[in-house]
Amino acid sequence: MTTISPLIAGNWKMNGLTSSLEELSALAQLLTTGEAPRAVVVVCPPATLLAAVAAQGASSGIMAGGQNCHVEAAGAHTGEVSAGMLADVGAQYVIVGHSERRADNHETDDLVRAKAEAAIGAGLKPIICVGETEAERDAGQAESVVAAQLASSVPDAAGQHEVIVAYEPIWAIGTGRTPSNDDIRQMHANIRDRLVERFGEKGAQIRILYGGSLKPVNAREILAIENVNGGLVGGASLLAKDFYTIISSV
Ligand code: 13P
Repeated sequence: MTTISPLIAGNWKMNGLTSSLEELSALAQLLTTGEAPRAVVVVCPPATLLAAVAAQGASSGIMAGGQNCHVEAAGAHTGEVSAGMLADVGAQYVIVGHSERRADNHETDDLVRAKAEAAIGAGLKPIICVGETEAERDAGQAESVVAAQLASSVPDAAGQHEVIVAYEPIWAIGTGRTPSNDDIRQMHANIRDRLVERFGEKGAQIRILYGGSLKPVNAREILAIENVNGGLVGGASLLAKDFYTIISSV
């Protein structure tokens, strides 16, 4: 049985000004004065704060991640940021295929896979997001929807490079609602099966994060579920105290 070191990533989404770096300092303080964290800690701020988070987080072991990247390395794509640019300012991770980007920017599985490939090419570890809508779950399609997203969004390169999968049921994001522990266990087991089917032993080592209303109150039980190898935290990652409580729940 492989042991996978857990990872907790905070996704700040479109939140955070330079003043928010105080929250990062507070988190660094908690991480360095308290018990050593049992998880890899990643903070994914808006692109404007990435360089500062990477520089400031380094001494306390906080890693920086982007929230998105373009598929190409450079060129005429106004407003876009490439994976190489994220790496250049110190990012080690990048979220790709978050449901908010799939919805707001019409990102398809094929595009998400291309972004994951671009991230790997730039030396980043992509955090590839999948998850069903509430209607899909109600229709009994959650497993097949997620299996299809995995098949098309996770690149073949995941067989040789480190990637992370994040299961985020869309209806649980920012709603305060979560699936039952049994539903989380079953979905994560299914994702594990698909990854092992495709990547063999390597698939058994890929971290599968849970995301969607992960909070200090529910983190301990959710993070203890089999095949839940950490979490992707939205709202609760904005406050150092809450995020630290989640990290300490591992
Ligand atoms: P919340 O934790 O705010 O529900 O957001 C989850 C999420 O989308 C993380 O990427």
